[in-house]
Amino acid sequence: YVLDIDPNAASKGTYEFYMLKEIDEQPGVMRHISQDYLDENGKPVVEQDIVDAVADSDRIYILAAGTSYHAGLVGKNLFEKFSDIPVEVGLASEFGYHFPKLSKKPFFIFLSQSGETADSRVVLKQVNERHLPSLTITNVQGSTLSREATYTMLLKAGPEIAVASTKAYTAQIAVQAVLAKAVGEKKNVADAKEFDLKHQLALVAEGMQQLVDGKEKVDELAKKYLAKTRNAFYIGRGVDYAVALEGALKLKEVSYIETEGFAAAELKHGTIALIEKGTPVITLINDPATADLTRGNIREVESRGASVITMVAKQFANENDDIVLPEVDYYLSPLVTIVPAQLLAYYASKNKGLDVDKPRNLAKSVTVE
Ligand code: G6P
Repeated sequence: YVLDIDPNAASKGTYEFYMLKEIDEQPGVMRHISQDYLDENGKPVVEQDIVDAVADSDRIYILAAGTSYHAGLVGKNLFEKFSDIPVEVGLASEFGYHFPKLSKKPFFIFLSQSGETADSRVVLKQVNERHLPSLTITNVQGSTLSREATYTMLLKAGPEIAVASTKAYTAQIAVQAVLAKAVGEKKNVADAKEFDLKHQLALVAEGMQQLVDGKEKVDELAKKYLAKTRNAFYIGRGVDYAVALEGALKLKEVSYIETEGFAAAELKHGTIALIEKGTPVITLINDPATADLTRGNIREVESRGASVITMVAKQFANENDDIVLPEVDYYLSPLVTIVPAQLLAYYASKNKGLDVDKPRNLAKSVTVE
C-alpha cells in the first residue's frame, strides 16, 4: 500500500470541506506512519540519538497547546506503559511562566502540528537556556519549534488545512506510540517488546476505515441530538477522558455548541446540575477497568433527562449503543474513538450551515502569546 501524500496537492477535490477530507485521510496516515517508522519486523525506525536521550531521562515533560495538548494526554499513557518513564503533560502557556520543580534528568517533548505556536516557543526558549534536551514532534518540516529543539520527528500527516485539527492529532498519538515503543525496547521493558505495534496500527487503520465508511450514521446522530441544543458533554474514563476533552473541543470549535469534556465520575460532583431534558451526553467506553462504572454514570444522567450518545468498543457494546468502535488495543483506542467524535463535530457544524473549515475567531497557527 502506497499512500499518496503530495504536499503540493492540498486540494479539496470533491470534498465540500477540508475537515471531512482530513478525517477520511486518517487510515492512510496510520499506514504511512507504520511504513515509515516501523521496519518489516515491526522494529521502530527512530534516530538512535533520540531514543538514547529519552531512555536516559527520569521524566518526560510533554508541552503543547489545544488539540496537541490533548494528544499529549494520550501520549502520557503510552510513554508510561511502554517506556516505563513518568510523564508530566503541561499546557505550554502555563508552564512557560510557572515552571514546576523539574526532575534530575528531564526530557522535553513539544507537540505542535504547525511547529510555530508562540506559547510552546516560550517554554522551549527556557529549556534551551537551561541546556536541557528536547524533541519537537511536528507536521511541518523546518518549522520554528523543530529548528529550536535538540531533535525533531515529523508527523507525516500531510498538509492539514482545516482550522480544526484532526489527522495531526491521530498522527501525534501514533508517532508517540512509535517513540514510546522504541525507548521501551532499548530499556528492555517487557510491555514494549511484546507490543506488536505494526499489527495494532494495521487494526487501527482498518477500524478507522470502517468508522469513516459509516459516517452517515454519525450525521443522523448530529441531526437528531445536536441541531438545536445549546450545550453538550463528553464523558469518559482513562484514555477516554483524554479523548472526551478533544471530542468536546472539536464540537465546540466548529459548531459553537458549548461542550465540555469530563472524567465520567466527576460530572456528579457539580456539573450534573446542568443536565436538563435532552442535554446530549456523549459517552466513550474503551477502558476494561471502568466500563461498568461508566455505564452507571450513563444511568445517572439519563435519569435526569439527558440524551445519551454512546461510542463503545465492540467488546463492551450492546445493541442499544449508537456507535460500536472496532476492537483495538486499549492504549491505541483514542485513534479510533476520536473518529466518530470528529465526524459528529463536522456534521453538527455543516448541518447548521457554518463554515466548517474556518470557525469564527480561530486561526490555524497562533504565533502570539
Ligand atoms: C491553534 C489551532 C488549534 C491547535 C493549536 C495548537 O489554536 O487552532 O487547532 O491545536 O493552535 O497548534 P499546534 O500547531 O501547536 O499544534
